[in-house]
Amino acid sequence: MSERLQVPRGTYDVLPQDAGARAALEATARRILEGAGYARIETPAFEHTEVFARGVGASTDIVQKEMYTFDDGGGRSVTLRPEGTAPICRAYAEHGMHKLPQPVKLWYLSSFFRQEKPQAGRFRQFWQVGAEAIGSDDPAVDAESIVLLSTLLDELEVGGLRLRLASLGTLAARHAYREELQAYLRAHADELSADVRERIDLNPLRAFDSDHPGTRAAMAGAPLLLDHLDADDAAHFAAVRELLDRAGIAYEVDPTLVRGLDYYTRTVFEFTSDALGAQSGVGGGGRYDGLVEMLGGPATPGCGWAAGIERMLLAAGGMPVAAPPVDLYVAFDDAAGSRAAAFAVADEARSARLHAQLELAGRSRKGQLKHADRIDARYVAVVSDDTTVLRDRHAGEQHGVPTGDVVAWILRERGMR
Ligand code: HAM
Repeated sequence: MSERLQVPRGTYDVLPQDAGARAALEATARRILEGAGYARIETPAFEHTEVFARGVGASTDIVQKEMYTFDDGGGRSVTLRPEGTAPICRAYAEHGMHKLPQPVKLWYLSSFFRQEKPQAGRFRQFWQVGAEAIGSDDPAVDAESIVLLSTLLDELEVGGLRLRLASLGTLAARHAYREELQAYLRAHADELSADVRERIDLNPLRAFDSDHPGTRAAMAGAPLLLDHLDADDAAHFAAVRELLDRAGIAYEVDPTLVRGLDYYTRTVFEFTSDALGAQSGVGGGGRYDGLVEMLGGPATPGCGWAAGIERMLLAAGGMPVAAPPVDLYVAFDDAAGSRAAAFAVADEARSARLHAQLELAGRSRKGQLKHADRIDARYVAVVSDDTTVLRDRHAGEQHGVPTGDVVAWILRERGMR
């Protein structure tokens, strides 16, 4: 026997026993998002590397060390998508969606790839559900987007939730603030971790994210971007907050909230759950008013979020999922040559939209009846060419029915005809 192979580190199989909860999660997301006018979009699993280098930002951890990048075989660099927002903005620009009524509201449920160190709740292939509203800078878009994610997490009964909210202002405001923060960090360089010190030029905002005690102490006195918003950005942030207050959404304004992507402008937010361990981020997002333009489209505002499927399922503690009922189990006696007749009965039952399963394992008569109990089939048909013994397991009755009439008989009995 050769070596038994396993999935690569940081990936996993979605097994049948896990599929029900994921399907229920997807149905809930679909209902909430399509109910609010979001339409499903799916982009390819890989994109030209440029999409992420420009979109997500060259200084981010994602672009610097987490992307699966390879040659497409023709000398062009492609990358397995680490996130969905940049590809969707690429699609918006590529398909001229700015000509549609705005905002264009899109949702997705897809897998993403990041070469991170695997741990509980952190995978190298993971799944996100996300929503993007592109083409409006109205603060109601930000607030609505947050309310939709909050509704989804509530309906999934994700426990111990906390919502943090901040505004990063426009790119220009952030640029001015960045210089001030860099000056502050340089003045406190002795107190900072080596990692943060090395990133003063490239990504000074990440200093707020550090768990190094000296850095944390130094950052307590650091200038805050929220205090540097211009009047328009401050008014936008106030309007978002007012709408959230009115919607009864609890949040904390956290001026140190850092998101790991560079495209954000103005509103940023993140939901964490204390039902999770170190990887407590369940879902997050924000506004990205420059992103479509960075990817070659017209200047277009946008706002959205994504939430991790694995983390939502972990924090929801398992959703009860009912197995689909089996209407009919078609058994037969192979020795009597009734396989073809049984096959036809199962086929006809499915055409009539019954959930029907055919005996496929060569079980004995006794084994077949045991299997019917195991799958809790309502009816068991023991088919022979002419007559079928049809058992109604729930009513505890048994009837002899001409084989050609089995499906019609069940439908009549169930009052479906
Ligand atoms: P993100 O915060 O990088 O944002 O990811 C969103 C969510 O995906 C996280 O809160 C987490 O639940 C999940 N996630 C991220 N990385 C992993 C991983 N390695 N394993 C398991 N789950 C993970 C974005 O991706 C942005 N595109 C969100 C967005 C949409 N912003 C605007 N629109």
